[in-house]
Amino acid sequence: MGNLLTIGVLVSGNGTNLQSIIDRCNDGSLTARIGCVISNNADAFALERARKHGIPTIHLNHREFSGREAYDATLIKVLRDHGVDLVILAGFMRIITPVLIDAFPNAIMNIHPALLPAFPGLHAQRQALEYGVKISGCTVHFVDAGTDTGPIIMQAAVAVDTDDTEESLSARIQLEEHRIFPLAIQLYAAGRLTVEGRRVVVSSPPVAAQKPR
Ligand code: GRF
Repeated sequence: MGNLLTIGVLVSGNGTNLQSIIDRCNDGSLTARIGCVISNNADAFALERARKHGIPTIHLNHREFSGREAYDATLIKVLRDHGVDLVILAGFMRIITPVLIDAFPNAIMNIHPALLPAFPGLHAQRQALEYGVKISGCTVHFVDAGTDTGPIIMQAAVAVDTDDTEESLSARIQLEEHRIFPLAIQLYAAGRLTVEGRRVVVSSPPVAAQKPR
């Protein structure tokens, strides 16, 4: 257990991505442990999911802090207290500052429900529908100081149907989110990601892991 990557998951809402990460940790396909789940929203169902699996949960109400930097400084303390190596933003509806980014260099991942750099920011699925694209999807990326601008780790494409609504498209994109977020985290856990400028280079698995048993 000593070498297992410890992740801290930041959430604000339903937590279906958190659930997919919990499930992949439990079935062993993700060789990581969740050290804590932190929410700015006390009512986030994600907290319920974490508690059900015995994962420590922390509610940090952003309204009780003087500003974003002060909030992030407390986030860092809680993450460090729980031994977190990698921070996962899984539907965390807060802008984070360089205070947090600098504390976890190339060690914060976010998932965004569009094929970046298209449609950053809020309501990405609605933006995609209104623009009329035929293909959208989701993107896992390292977090930098911009909004949804960091180096891209993995993407999955989803076809947009003529009769799609924001809800129907979001639901199909979420299926892909739940698939690729744990895969991207596993690449990190296996030490296979290197950031070279804007590019994230994925190295091959060790030879032993490639051989059939
Ligand atoms: C996802 O659609 C994700 O792309 C976005 O926030 C949503 C979180 O959903 N960043 P959930 O809380 O994981 O169900």
